[in-house]
Amino acid sequence: MPDTLLRAEGLTAGYNGVPAIRDLDLSVGEGEVVSLLGPNGAGKTTTLLALVGLVPAMAGTVTALGERVTHKRPHLLARRGVRLVPDDRGIFYGLSVRDHLRLARRRADSVRRAAVLDRFPALAELESRKVGLLSGGEQQMLAIAVALLAAPRVLMVDEMSLGLAPKIVQAMLPAIRDLAREEGIAVLLVEQHVELALAVSDRAVVLNHGRAVLAGQAADLLAGRDRLESAYFGADEFAADSVVEGVS
Ligand SMILES: Nc1ncnc2c1ncn2[C@@H]1O[C@H](COP(=O)(O)OP(=O)(O)O)[C@@H](O)[C@H]1O
Ligand SMILES: [Mg+2]
Repeated sequence: MPDTLLRAEGLTAGYNGVPAIRDLDLSVGEGEVVSLLGPNGAGKTTTLLALVGLVPAMAGTVTALGERVTHKRPHLLARRGVRLVPDDRGIFYGLSVRDHLRLARRRADSVRRAAVLDRFPALAELESRKVGLLSGGEQQMLAIAVALLAAPRVLMVDEMSLGLAPKIVQAMLPAIRDLAREEGIAVLLVEQHVELALAVSDRAVVLNHGRAVLAGQAADLLAGRDRLESAYFGADEFAADSVVEGVS
């Protein structure tokens, strides 16, 4: 078993006192890719925000790198190596690629910068380009590269493939898989492309109406399509007791 770098236990969080996720258990180990799946509004983004403390936990705990971080401030978590690439990619359209890399690498050394640009060679050729003029795939690459410059231990990416052509998604997801394996990063992916995500994941959790309705090994979920589809579309029959064992 890989070392668990990120763990949520009984996590409940939401907005204005109303939970959007309830009693969620989730873990990601070193070098592992775990997908967080589920229909729109299921609570995927809220989960990521709660894991980094941007949405306060109403109950339960979050542990990152072995330390209880439930009510820690988000920037402290970032400094410890827990990075979130948000669904708007967190980039600035008026700045160039070089500006982003420069801002991000204040603390990164040149070895790190070379390693990151090695992974995304296309970015090196686009350094002077304004981000607003990049394609969606290039913007996403930049967002991930910026996160990687900080040498994260835990990387969460919210809807990486939003607005990307399937061909680009098919290229980028395996790159994330390699990244996790080669650098031992614990990756939590929120994805709409269920099959593509499962193909590069070790495990997955399906959320519906703020609850984990199905979880297990990615290969098992891929093999059990019917169960997966019911978890997605008709959550009613999936009470908490039908959650697959061995999630965390
Ligand atoms: N800032 C917010 N204020 C109030 N409710 C929110 C906010 N963001 C999300 N929600 C609600 O929380 C629920 C889960 O949303 P979200 O986590 O964004 O789902 P997903 O990412 O799976 O599409 C939805 O019902 C959504 O309307
Ligand atoms: Mg979302």
